Order: sequence, then structure tokens, then C-alpha cells
Amino acid sequence: MAPNGNNYINELVEIHGRSRTSLMPILQEVVARNNFISDQDMTEIAKELDLSAAQVYGTATFYSFLDTLPRGEFVIRVCKTITCDMHGKKTIIQTLEDMLKIKVGETTPNKKFTLLETNCLGWCHEGPAMLINDTPFSGLTTEKVHDIISDYIHK
Ligand code: FES
Repeated sequence: MAPNGNNYINELVEIHGRSRTSLMPILQEVVARNNFISDQDMTEIAKELDLSAAQVYGTATFYSFLDTLPRGEFVIRVCKTITCDMHGKKTIIQTLEDMLKIKVGETTPNKKFTLLETNCLGWCHEGPAMLINDTPFSGLTTEKVHDIISDYIHK
């Protein structure tokens, strides 16, 4: 259930319009607001834009950046693509899993961190790389990850 009821979906539709091209901007705003897109929101958006729920769901899940599950306050996305993989992505994931005591795909019980893998972030020349929400971190080492995550733990 969306934290603010569904009136905000109506507002977003008023702002962006009811055409198909409004779907992406509406989905992006819902994610910016709630960190994920609930089933209820997807159904509401489908109704408003006269699309099937499957079309909305398909669009939302095609772009893995549009989460359809509740996420933590800080979403960590580690690049799993080949260059980062060759430069030690596995060690980075292991370090994050050890520090946060969760596995890839999980959220910490206090809802502070979600750990995910993602496709190339465009930092291949400085891999391994990860994003925490919108902030990129590259040239990662175990030590660097320790420092970054310790900072975030205290935010
Ligand atoms: Fe990891 Fe491109 S391969 S950022």
C-alpha cells in the first residue's frame, strides 16, 4: 500500500497527462517518492492511462531501476557486468554481504540498506563500481567499501 494513498497518482496523471508516453515519467516519480512501485499503484496507473496492468508491470520490471518491491533507504547496486566482474566484483559483494549481514536481493531488517546487482553503470574504466541511490562509487576495494558503508551506517 502506498504511504500516501492514491491521490498522488491522480495528481501525477494530471501533471503528465494520460498518453502512453506519460507512463515512464509517472513510474519514475512514484519511485522517487516511495522507493518502489506497489501493485496497487500499478493498477491505479493502468486504470488512469487506460493500459492493462500487465503493460504497466512489464514496463516497470523491464527497467530494473524501477523497483516493484519495498526497498531500503539506501539502495546499493553493484555492477555485475563483465569488466567489473573481472576486476573483483565478487569480493565487493562479499564485503557488502558481510558488513550488512544480508544477501544480494535482500534488505536489512532496519530497512536502511538494500543490496542489488545491476548491469553496466558506465564506470567500466574504473571498475568495480556501484551506485548507492544516485551516487556512483568506482575503483572499489574491500577497504574502500568498508569506509563508504561505515559512513552510510551513520547517516
Ligand atoms: Fe561495470 Fe561497466 S562493467 S561499470
